[in-house]
Amino acid sequence: MNNATASAGTGLSTIAVVGAGSVGATYAYAALINGVARRVVLYDVNGAKVRAEALDLAHGIEYMPMGSVDGSDEVGICAGADLVVVTAGAKQRPGQSRMELAERTVGLMRTLLPDLVEVAPDAIYLMVTNPVDVVTYAAQQISGLPARRVLGSGTVLDSSRLRYLVAGACGVAVRNVHAYVLGEHGDSEVPIWSSATIGGVPVREFSELGATVRDGIAREVVESAYRIIEGKGATNYAIGLAATRISQAILRGEGAVLPVSSRLRDYRGISDVCLSVPSVVDRTGVARQLEIPLDAAEVAALQASAASVRATARRCGF
Ligand code: 2OP
Repeated sequence: MNNATASAGTGLSTIAVVGAGSVGATYAYAALINGVARRVVLYDVNGAKVRAEALDLAHGIEYMPMGSVDGSDEVGICAGADLVVVTAGAKQRPGQSRMELAERTVGLMRTLLPDLVEVAPDAIYLMVTNPVDVVTYAAQQISGLPARRVLGSGTVLDSSRLRYLVAGACGVAVRNVHAYVLGEHGDSEVPIWSSATIGGVPVREFSELGATVRDGIAREVVESAYRIIEGKGATNYAIGLAATRISQAILRGEGAVLPVSSRLRDYRGISDVCLSVPSVVDRTGVARQLEIPLDAAEVAALQASAASVRATARRCGF
């Protein structure tokens, strides 16, 4: 039995976090305090930084459900991981779009992934680095792993931003808002209003959510990362939690429906690109994609988003 099979569903899994910057460290913190894996290891080329982050986290182990943490600048620390979460990459500067990071980041993936796959061949790979849809597509090709085992955090975060804003506008709990942002995790993303509900009631029936309010919310979802980066240089907490939620779904084999980024094959006429659509996530990665109802404008916007991501991937040689 390989390592991934041996520890599946037992709560004894190992997560390897690649990149000990603010996203990697915050993700590790969130995964540990949520007890998602028994062991979390951090890998970063900056040895002093990665060891310091691991030590700081380790000093809090007493207050976490169960776990251990280690850090190293040697890739061997990732050996046998069940889940590899890739956060390493170029930092988005204020005003810069995620797509502008593509070439540098994809170049990094070309050197990073072969070594990771060698030491953790049975892992599921969760890509978080931006532009995440392009990076996920490139990672599938570079790694040679089955596409379902290489997914991206996609619009899980954008969907939670949308739900937060809708909940605030209507005075309801965030958990009772069922709404997705699909497509690119970035400027061309698509809020899906036609099938969004609050407690089973279509959002269009809420007077608080007229067309102007919906447009304002959609704009705010797209612009929020820019605003946060403007103010503090990076986003880390919500993406750390979103990636933790995806990790839980994978390692606990939940079959949770999440808008992760995965390779599409004739999804509403879209193929050969990684984008977020509602997907069943379990211990095998992306088990299947769900075709939710979309209106004509949403289908067109999703196709335009696919074209934009595909163009950047092609520019990077994929
Ligand atoms: C975010 O949306 C920057 O992609 C990161 O928070």
